[in-house]
Amino acid sequence: MTTVDLPLLPLGRGTDRVSERGVECPGDLPAVSDPDLVARARAAKAALGDRVFVLGHHYQRDVVIQFADVTGDSFKLARDAAARPAAEYIVFCGVHFMAESADILTGPEQKVILPDLAAGCSMADMARLAQVEDAWDALADAGIVESVVPVTYMNSSADIKAFCGRNGGVVCTSSNAEVALEWAFEQKAHVEGGAKVLFLPDQHLGRNTAVLKMGLTLDDCVVWNPHRPNGGLTAEQLRDAKMILWKGHCSVHGRFTAAVVDDLRATIPDVQILVHPECAHEVVLKADLVGSTEFIIQTIEAAPAGSSWAIGTELNLVKRLADAHPDKHITFLDKTVCYCSTMNRIDLPLLVWAMESLVNGTVVNQIQVDPDTEHFAQIALQRMLDLPGKTHKD
Ligand code: 13P
Ligand code: SF4
Repeated sequence: MTTVDLPLLPLGRGTDRVSERGVECPGDLPAVSDPDLVARARAAKAALGDRVFVLGHHYQRDVVIQFADVTGDSFKLARDAAARPAAEYIVFCGVHFMAESADILTGPEQKVILPDLAAGCSMADMARLAQVEDAWDALADAGIVESVVPVTYMNSSADIKAFCGRNGGVVCTSSNAEVALEWAFEQKAHVEGGAKVLFLPDQHLGRNTAVLKMGLTLDDCVVWNPHRPNGGLTAEQLRDAKMILWKGHCSVHGRFTAAVVDDLRATIPDVQILVHPECAHEVVLKADLVGSTEFIIQTIEAAPAGSSWAIGTELNLVKRLADAHPDKHITFLDKTVCYCSTMNRIDLPLLVWAMESLVNGTVVNQIQVDPDTEHFAQIALQRMLDLPGKTHKD
């Protein structure tokens, strides 16, 4: 018997079809109410055959994920995209930065399609290239730039990844942040005073990894606020820090609170708290287990029947896990609805529209990273894919 304490509020869907980047859907976008949407998606996918490969991030809606050839977290999807050189089209059911990474990691003749160009990521938008370049200049002014390795979370734009590639840095995901940080600190271990990391754009993943996995303390970390002069930091604070955390966060994972953890522990006997490392440090400190979406799935799959879990990550995934494991008690770690609104922009009408357009010979919503950005972003992504450790192979 499943007990699923999930909010049942109806999810509003975007009514407009004009993306924030100003691109309108050409052609016919099927109505949400079209009873043939599933059949149309199946038919379009069958007509495209091996020419199309559909990737689905774990936060996608069920109606979309059913058409994914593979599902995964950002790391797995980046590798899966790179491992499909024969597919002419990669339809990415995820968000913009993931599709950019897929474009960078696939061949020049392959086309990556994002069914809704407005499926962005608020966290990725919190670090703009000009801001990061200003921060880098400030590190130079403080006399420490030679000791700094930039590390960017996958959840960043291609030009931020390229910045890291240009400046001896690396990309990481929530699956391999620890290995990436070890690599980064080693790169400048010889520099007097030791290495520092500029971690972009998620302060929480950076802090949680540094403190919980790398043995650093909170005092080793400072937060660079791009909206304040010199990041709101003195040159001395920058010189003393080992981790310079960009002031970015995920609006979805930022909702989980330590107070709800306490409430659930008081009301559900033996509940285990399982959260994503994008959650705030005080939430992660109270959790039993912390890991990427792929880790969360594997943990629930391996859990014994009858065990109780409260999960702090995006709601589509938590609901899917609850449905797939009726013998376990799965609770959402928030009192209100907590979908990622941009992930949810990809819906069945858009997926049908994108695939039917391909069947008809029209490539819509192609994501193309410019060659110079692609070159340097690829360097940073490849450094990530080459990192040692089990995340490289599993
Ligand atoms: P992972 O896919 O790395 O677990 O990250 C979660 C996320 O927020 C993706 O946008
Ligand atoms: Fe961005 Fe957070 Fe949504 Fe992931 S869940 S795409 S980090 S806003």
